[in-house]
Amino acid sequence: SMSRIRKAVFPVAGLGTRFLPATKTVPKEMLPIVDRPLIQYAVDEAVEAGCDTLIFVTNRYKHAVADYFDKAYELEQKLEKSGKTEQLELVRNVLPPHVRAVFVTQAEALGLGHAVLCAKPIVGNEPFAVLLPDDLIWNRGDGALKQMADAAEDSGASVIAVQDVPREQTSSYGIVATDGFAGRSARIRAIVEKPKPEVAPSNLAVVGRYVLDGRIFELLEKTTPGAGGEIQLTDAIAALLTEQAVHAYRFQGTRFDCGTHLGLIEATIRYALDHEKLSDAARGMMQNALSELGVVDLD
Ligand code: UTP
Repeated sequence: SMSRIRKAVFPVAGLGTRFLPATKTVPKEMLPIVDRPLIQYAVDEAVEAGCDTLIFVTNRYKHAVADYFDKAYELEQKLEKSGKTEQLELVRNVLPPHVRAVFVTQAEALGLGHAVLCAKPIVGNEPFAVLLPDDLIWNRGDGALKQMADAAEDSGASVIAVQDVPREQTSSYGIVATDGFAGRSARIRAIVEKPKPEVAPSNLAVVGRYVLDGRIFELLEKTTPGAGGEIQLTDAIAALLTEQAVHAYRFQGTRFDCGTHLGLIEATIRYALDHEKLSDAARGMMQNALSELGVVDLD
């Protein structure tokens, strides 16, 4: 059976080309939704799921991610002196005291699978989580990773987050074929990266949350470049599921693909409308924008 996960890997060494020019200097993971960068939402979700060791796989250009989780002495002193205690707490609490951050470098962007493999020396041979911060999952109840960690603990299997997508979108995702679902879980029989709609085995798409057995590292070491010339996590998972049970998990929550322009906009709207202080003003603002642009006539 699978023990409770303690370690979470955040692969953030991608180039973020879809958000150029912003990502020329600001990593995609540092783009904010309301007041917090995407990476903070993913970190909070991992901590909620019980993780206390967070491993960030970065590249040499991404100092911003490490700086964000580092202590900001001067800023903290200034906030303290000027009595801005609320802001001081926000700055201090990007990581809770019991949580440690570890940074490893992916020298070359050789793919998501390769990025995960870079975390092997720190994870060792235990089950762990992978979170892609650009997949933001909005939820009022338990976070998606906590739901998955609970399921992994119960079943002893690796668990991969999935959601149903329109068939015409299968070529943007890893797609799984499964046995029948019992509740939110089903055993995966096959997984393929970015299949065309005509050949996709289903419309169940993998999204950026994984609970994986440590065995995946040995399989990643043997994985050769696949789709797009990249070392794909999907290919190593395909090897894993010939050896042991891997479950697809239909998480509860709404996922926004913040690696795309529209996804980031949609997430911003959702979080603003759900924000205790901003909600009313945001709603009014959106109504104004719609009526001024002639999309709806409010009279
Ligand atoms: P994406 O496919 O979103 O690529 O990677 P990207 O480079 O981040 O963004 P675009 O497509 O150029 O706009 C999925 C996840 O895998 C990580 C990314 O940081 C992202 O979290 N990744 C990808 C790596 O860490 N290393 C890689 O070599 C590739």
